[in-house]
Amino acid sequence: MIKPIIPVMTAIGLVLAGCSNSNNNNDDNNAVATCSGEAVQAVRLFLQQLSSDSVIIKWRGNADGDTEASSVCFGTDMAALPADSETAATVTATGHSEVLLSGLEPDTTYYYSVGGAGVADEAHHFRTAPVTGELPADGNTRIWIVGDSGVGGTGKPESGYVRDGFLAFAQNQGDEPADLFLMLGDNAYDQGTDMEHQKGIFDVYTSVLASTPVWPTIGNHEMGTVGLSTSSNPESYTVLGDGSNGGPDPAPDSPMPYLNIFSLPTDGEAGGLASGTEQYYSFDYANVHVVSLDSQLAIRDTDSRAAMMQWLKDDLMANTQDWTIVIYHHPPYTKGSHDSDSTLNGIDDPIFTIREEFTPIFEQYGVDLAYAGHSHIYERSYYINGNTGLSDTFDAATMAELNDMNMPASGQGDEAYTQIARNGMDDKVVYTVAGNGGKITYTTPGYPHPANFFSQLELGSVVIDLDENQLEASFVDVNGTVLDSFIITR
Ligand SMILES: [Fe+2]
Ligand SMILES: [Fe+2]
Repeated sequence: MIKPIIPVMTAIGLVLAGCSNSNNNNDDNNAVATCSGEAVQAVRLFLQQLSSDSVIIKWRGNADGDTEASSVCFGTDMAALPADSETAATVTATGHSEVLLSGLEPDTTYYYSVGGAGVADEAHHFRTAPVTGELPADGNTRIWIVGDSGVGGTGKPESGYVRDGFLAFAQNQGDEPADLFLMLGDNAYDQGTDMEHQKGIFDVYTSVLASTPVWPTIGNHEMGTVGLSTSSNPESYTVLGDGSNGGPDPAPDSPMPYLNIFSLPTDGEAGGLASGTEQYYSFDYANVHVVSLDSQLAIRDTDSRAAMMQWLKDDLMANTQDWTIVIYHHPPYTKGSHDSDSTLNGIDDPIFTIREEFTPIFEQYGVDLAYAGHSHIYERSYYINGNTGLSDTFDAATMAELNDMNMPASGQGDEAYTQIARNGMDDKVVYTVAGNGGKITYTTPGYPHPANFFSQLELGSVVIDLDENQLEASFVDVNGTVLDSFIITR
């Protein structure tokens, strides 16, 4: 039987071949009915809680000003998203639509259409995580980290330069996009309003967010009041001034936009131990375990700090991943725009708490890397442990991994670090401050901090590439040039 579609396909070629529709389904027993909705360009679009079998797609708005999308279609063939994949969105009190896609195959690329079209836009895809503990098919996990990047709302383009630096690096280094995107807080200046999140995050990282899951932590500017809040209660979120860049979110959600915008795991949805709160959480990706702590709110209250600390210990004890990374906002070793030797009106108290109470946990429980922002600078430590005091107590001879000449090792060349250090223990951590993702400001007396191998007032971000046996962390500037790097092998 001659199928009537054949001459038409010959005439129109690939366009029609890639756009099956309900009219020709009966012509081919193998054809699957495809979605028939219309793609909608959302004002904000991002991926949350990506795991080996699920992901949340979240969006809001329609760039055309028309009706917002109410569903998503997805599939492994970008040219034919099956009709039975259509998933209706739920809408939150702040108008965010989200769909949870589950039952997915691990380490597999899926394409999606917000609005439920049968064909996906090229930019709209995600790759599920590998089976936990295993490497991705390409053998390499790439993690991109930016800190204090939320300057979009203040009219500064610097975060865009940093983004472009990363994209240039990624293109030069295997043309490999990031598998994970971590944000170190102060993601939306000055007061973390919903509008400032739009300008600081969604308008800047649009293409990355459409294909890479974002995992943030809370900075002081996420709590309104121009970053000056010392409250431990997210319900206290308020803004100073005329609110021309937005105000608290409406009830019944939290007044804190960060908590409404991000859908973060509370129950170990993407691995790790259930934290019971979006303020801090952990997850697994391939052979990496990532922990995001709340150094702005939970840390300031005795009870909530104790709860977070116990959760952290339990989470790290249960962790069997090859590599462990912790992110939080307040840096324990810094001489940038914040000084880890002095508290600034109480807003910097968490710097001391992190150093005195949390770094011993990181070191005891096998954390490899710790990242903070807050200081608008890049500072990277030696491979250290035991420095809970002020900068003048740092003793390289006893606290740092040493090279063959008994000097603190650089982590570079033949001074690469090993996860099991010379003392036979996995008890050392490289601490990095990467608050240089949107601005660089100044240094404070005593700069550079003696625990830090490399310190530079330069815009940029961090890229981590890792496999089973080696991890390399690089400081990438706005041109995509690597200004510092170190290696840990295991
Ligand atoms: Fe900060
Ligand atoms: Fe900041």
